[in-house]
Amino acid sequence: MLILGIETSCDETSIALLEAKKEGANFFIQPQKSVVSSQIKIHAPYGGVVPMLASREHVKNLDYLFNQVLKDNNNDLKKIIKKIDLISVTYGPGLIPALLVGVNFSKTLAWAFKKPIIGVNHLEAHFLSFLLPDENQKKIISQKDLKQIFPAIGLIVSGGHTLLIYAQKIGDYRLIGETRDDAAGECFDKTSRILGLGYPGGPAIAKEAQKIKIDELKEIKNEVKLPRPMINSPDFDFSFSGLKTAVLYAYQKIPSSQKRKMKTYFAYEIEDAITDVLVKKTISAAKYFQTKSIILGGGVTANKVLRDKMNEAAKNNNLNLYLPLLKYTTDNAMMVSLAGFFDSLKNKTINQNSWHNLEADANLKI
Ligand code: KG4
Ligand code: ZN
Repeated sequence: MLILGIETSCDETSIALLEAKKEGANFFIQPQKSVVSSQIKIHAPYGGVVPMLASREHVKNLDYLFNQVLKDNNNDLKKIIKKIDLISVTYGPGLIPALLVGVNFSKTLAWAFKKPIIGVNHLEAHFLSFLLPDENQKKIISQKDLKQIFPAIGLIVSGGHTLLIYAQKIGDYRLIGETRDDAAGECFDKTSRILGLGYPGGPAIAKEAQKIKIDELKEIKNEVKLPRPMINSPDFDFSFSGLKTAVLYAYQKIPSSQKRKMKTYFAYEIEDAITDVLVKKTISAAKYFQTKSIILGGGVTANKVLRDKMNEAAKNNNLNLYLPLLKYTTDNAMMVSLAGFFDSLKNKTINQNSWHNLEADANLKI
C-alpha cells in the first residue's frame, strides 16, 4: 500500500510517501520520496521553538511540499493521489498550534479525495524509525528479524521528550521512565544558549566539543565538574534541569579571558554528562527487563558520542542495538508513514470517514 505521511508536531514540516505491505509473516518497506522543511532559521533568534511561528510556517509550507512530493515526472498530481491508500498524520504529542495545521490539512485531503486516514503517535513514529531504509531502497523484515529485536527497550530522546519504553513487540509498549523536567535535547539547546553556541544546541555543542585535543581531556575533568543527575537512582526516570542550572552558575564564574577555552571544555563535558546518563539508564532498563535489544529514536540520537557509547555498552552487555539512519533521527514524515502502516494493520475500522473522529492531542501518551 502507498502511504502519505504528514508531520507538523514541532518545527519541521514534512511530507513523505512510503510503499509498505505485509505478505505472510514478512513486512516489505520501501520509502519513495520525502521532503523536510526545517524552520531552524526562524526560531534560532529565540533559542527555542516559538509555537505560533511554527504554526504559521507549517501553513505556508504544506501546500508547496505536498506538490513537491506528489508530482511525478509528468507533473501528474491526480494520478498519484489516486494511488494513495492511506493518509497518516502525527496527531500528538507536540505543540498544539503546530499539530492543528497538519491534522486539519490531512483531514481536508482525506475528505476531498475520499481516503482513509490514521492519526499517529509521534513518539511511536520515532521509535519505529530504525526500521526505515534509505529512499528507493527496499527492506524486508521477517519474523526471524523481529524475534531478534523484541522484546526491546526503546530510548526516545528529542527536544521535547526523553523516555524509556518496554516494547514487547511493534505496537505493544509500556512507559517505564521519563524525564521529570527538561528533555535531553532541551538541555542541549538551553546549555548551548548559555555558552552562546546557537540553536539547535545538540549539533552546536557536539561541534564545539570536537575541538578538544586528547591531551586536554584530563584537564577538563579537573576544571569542569558537572553532575550526572539521577544516574544511579533505582528507577528509569531522568532529570536534566539541574545540569542546566549547574552549567549556568559554573560558566558565569569563568573570567572572560578564559571563556574561549572553557567554552569548548563545557561543551565536551555537557555532551559527556547527558550521554552518560542516557546510556547508563538505558542499559540498566534492558538488563532489568531482560530484553534482547535496545532501540534508539529521536533527534538526540543523531549524536555521535551517544551512538558510540551506546554501541560499546550494548556490546559489553550482549544486547543488539538498533539505530535510525541519521536522516530519520530528527522529525520527518517517513517515520509517520511507517507508524501509520503498522497501526493500520491493527485497526481494521479505518475508512474514508475516519477523518470525522481525528483530533490533535498535544499531550498524547505512548
Ligand atoms: O526529534 P526532534 O527533531 O524534535 C522533537 O521531537 O523534539 O529533536 C530535536 C532535538 C533538539 O533538541 C536538538 O538539539 C537535538 O534534537 N539534536 C541533537 C543532535 N541533533 C539534533 N542533540 C545532540 N546531538 C546532535 N547531533
Ligand atoms: Zn520528534
